[in-house]
Amino acid sequence: MDAAPEIVIVPDPAALAETAARAIVDTALEAVAARGRFMLALAGGATPRTTYERLAAAPLRERMPWDRTFVFFGDERAVPPEHPDSNYGMADAALLSAVPIPPAQVFRIRGEADDPEAAAAEYARTLATAFGSRRGEVPRFDLVLLGLGVDGHTASLFPGSPVLKEVFRTVAAVHATAASIPQRLTLTLPVFNAAARVIFLVSGAEKAKVVKAALSDQAPALPAAMIRPTDGRLTWVLDRPAAALLPVAEAR
Ligand code: 6PG
Repeated sequence: MDAAPEIVIVPDPAALAETAARAIVDTALEAVAARGRFMLALAGGATPRTTYERLAAAPLRERMPWDRTFVFFGDERAVPPEHPDSNYGMADAALLSAVPIPPAQVFRIRGEADDPEAAAAEYARTLATAFGSRRGEVPRFDLVLLGLGVDGHTASLFPGSPVLKEVFRTVAAVHATAASIPQRLTLTLPVFNAAARVIFLVSGAEKAKVVKAALSDQAPALPAAMIRPTDGRLTWVLDRPAAALLPVAEAR
């Protein structure tokens, strides 16, 4: 059975970045001690940028086992890596280009590919090879970082999308009409829910309503609420404005 999510409420975006970056380092060190490597899926969107910058700066930069870290992406928009909306581009600028991670240990999704289905299949093969998965086996990330959209989407899993019913494929091409860049590639629910740890990073008052909805028991239709690792730890790190409508917010 999946456990109830752990909710961490911090004062502001700076504290959110600090808390998340420390959690990444701690999870990395535990994973390397246990399994010799750290398999990490990064989130897109704007919220994680300061977390990535924190991780790329002293003192956390020096604590991270970069030579044992393998970086993947939870989703990507249909743009080339140098495009301002590229999730890879953001992570590269804020984090990857500033740390001694071997380039061969960074696996970006080819958002710019002409054939999104082929790019999804290619990334599924990339995952299977990197994880050494057998046919039909779902990769188990040590840590997946996720964000939350105001409509309840996470990664590129949007409300009502057929991809929410995916059970076999690990990566899918999706079309999200509501998004500014509708064509996207995303890891699927079976992958997120197989992770050893998932951390949501959510900041800002505009997210308060959807945070409340996603963490209530009546939110089964929201993609973010479908993230319930079956044998893993789920943490939501929220800043106070994002947590404002939670019943627990006053108590912390
Ligand atoms: C994407 C994301 C998406 C994001 C949320 C929150 O590629 O768009 O992965 O799921 O995390 O939309 O984005 P912000 O942090 O920018 O609010």
